[in-house]
Amino acid sequence: MKKLFFFSLLIELIASHAYALETIKLPEPQIDKNLTLYNALMQRKSVRSYAQKELDPQTLSNILWVAYGVNRPDGRRTIPTARNAKDLSVYVANKKGVWLYDADENELKQITAENIMSSFGSQSFMKDVPAVLIYTGSDKDHNFSVMHAGSAYQNVELYAGVTDLGCVVRAMFDKEAVTKALQLPTGQRVIVSQAVGYEIK
Ligand SMILES: Cc1cc2nc3c(=O)[nH]c(=O)nc-3n(C[C@H](O)[C@H](O)[C@H](O)COP(=O)(O)O)c2cc1C
Repeated sequence: MKKLFFFSLLIELIASHAYALETIKLPEPQIDKNLTLYNALMQRKSVRSYAQKELDPQTLSNILWVAYGVNRPDGRRTIPTARNAKDLSVYVANKKGVWLYDADENELKQITAENIMSSFGSQSFMKDVPAVLIYTGSDKDHNFSVMHAGSAYQNVELYAGVTDLGCVVRAMFDKEAVTKALQLPTGQRVIVSQAVGYEIK
């Protein structure tokens, strides 16, 4: 009996360790200050051809900052939000799980260790994409959250244009599966996603 107790305790310990959710401190964003808006506008495009290469933490930090990071001491962001209510959340999915971007702390908080990449997989290039940004927000208030998502994904598109990155906004995915995996609170919805990776030129 005693043996059985210790055995099940051991199994529980192994299981809880295997599924422990991580918080990752991101490196400070480093954006090349010589990049020009003109070049970004000229080179913005949807990319549908990706190298099989993971995003390193610095690159991920840069992308997230561009999308929705804090750009002033009072905590305001790289995008405008209605009444400064910041009605937008940005998640990152990769094969290790799904993470919520905490811009104030410059951290990624893991929501699940489930690999949901196949939920985005209806187009063939998606098999090579290392990460997907997921934009969520409130389903009320004049659809402001949808507008915020548009601002954030456009920032990423402009940044990708002047780096070795590529991205494409994607409405074509299994929204139901993604909504479930994100465990969104009532009143929150998945708006759109954006595949991000290294472009094959
Ligand atoms: C809201 C939205 C949803 C989109 N969904 C998809 C998609 O599911 N798959 C895809 O390959 N492209 C998608 N796109 C990208 C458009 O197809 C693309 O922007 C358009 O063809 C113009 O090409 P360009 O971005 O290279 O200028 C989407 C774009 C937007 C803005």
